[in-house]
Amino acid sequence: PGSAPETHAQRLKYVSLAVLVVQNASLILSIRYVRTLPGDRFLSTSAVVIAELLKLTTCGLILLLGQSRGNIREWLRFLYNALITEYRDTLKLAVPSLIYTLQNNLQYIAISNLPAATFQVTYQLKILTTAIFSVLMLRTSLSRVQWLSLLLLFAGVATVQVQQQQQQQQHLAGGGEQNYLAGLAAVIVSCLSSGFAGVYFERILKGTSGSVWVRNVQLGIFGALLGTLGMFWKDWETVRERGLLFAYTPMVWAVVLNQAFGGLLVALVVKYADNILKGFATSLSIVVSTVASTHLFGFHVDPLFALGASMVIGAVYIYSLPRGSAWAPPPSSLAS
Ligand code: C5P
Repeated sequence: PGSAPETHAQRLKYVSLAVLVVQNASLILSIRYVRTLPGDRFLSTSAVVIAELLKLTTCGLILLLGQSRGNIREWLRFLYNALITEYRDTLKLAVPSLIYTLQNNLQYIAISNLPAATFQVTYQLKILTTAIFSVLMLRTSLSRVQWLSLLLLFAGVATVQVQQQQQQQQHLAGGGEQNYLAGLAAVIVSCLSSGFAGVYFERILKGTSGSVWVRNVQLGIFGALLGTLGMFWKDWETVRERGLLFAYTPMVWAVVLNQAFGGLLVALVVKYADNILKGFATSLSIVVSTVASTHLFGFHVDPLFALGASMVIGAVYIYSLPRGSAWAPPPSSLAS
């Protein structure tokens, strides 16, 4: 049996993964709900900025209450040191931050131009991009069986989504003014960026000593700045005329809060588990949210769904089988 801290970290790993499954499922359901409501559309660029600001404030507060025990002076000194004295570390976080900001905006473009199920299927390619970047950048070594389980995972999620799409096409006719190619390009760039930024963040988090909260403050500062630039660039007219929080209903707030909370959760999952396991958690959450839709929106589960869900669950099982010496020792020289 492992030492006490090891067991503790082990527990955090599974708790964070389980919470991610539930959070992601609820995010999918709430976005789906908010998008089916009639009326004005909120600005997605402002949603990205607000979510960044929420994350930034939360991490700042956690550092104030935890690290600095409520002492504001000590907190300011700590932040000055972490953000400015150690400016090289701060600058390193500009890379994933830029990519995530781009990705968070691209996702809204993709969701608006593709049928929801097509978006979900294609976005699952990030399972494979993440694995490839983990191998390249973290020198993670995957056994052949694990590669196969990743393919099975992708195929399973795709099956679930295809089944949903078939059901939806029976209910909906006509796609409105959607640009399929733009949507597809957005989702493919998102997959590459998700894999790269996720693994880059993991490398910084596990290879240097700063806490996950400090790293997220650094990430959030750039994210808020870049997101604001993007918002003014794309939606300046609307923001000026109708305000930043135009068409923010309570449900939109719920989505934004959920997204901010989800971002922090992703950081914890990357700390206690890794990006590849994160992929399994989000795939499971697609199955969970589809089952929940059955009750909430009247979907019914058919054999194709059952097949896809079994593939996802089978993939989780196969991936986590004991793997002898397939794992490389943890990379030692990460802090480049
Ligand atoms: O789809 P994917 O898993 O790549 O999405 C990751 C999400 O988590 C992005 O929206 C990103 O902004 C957020 N994130 C975060 N803080 C981190 C890592 C990711 O807010 N440390």
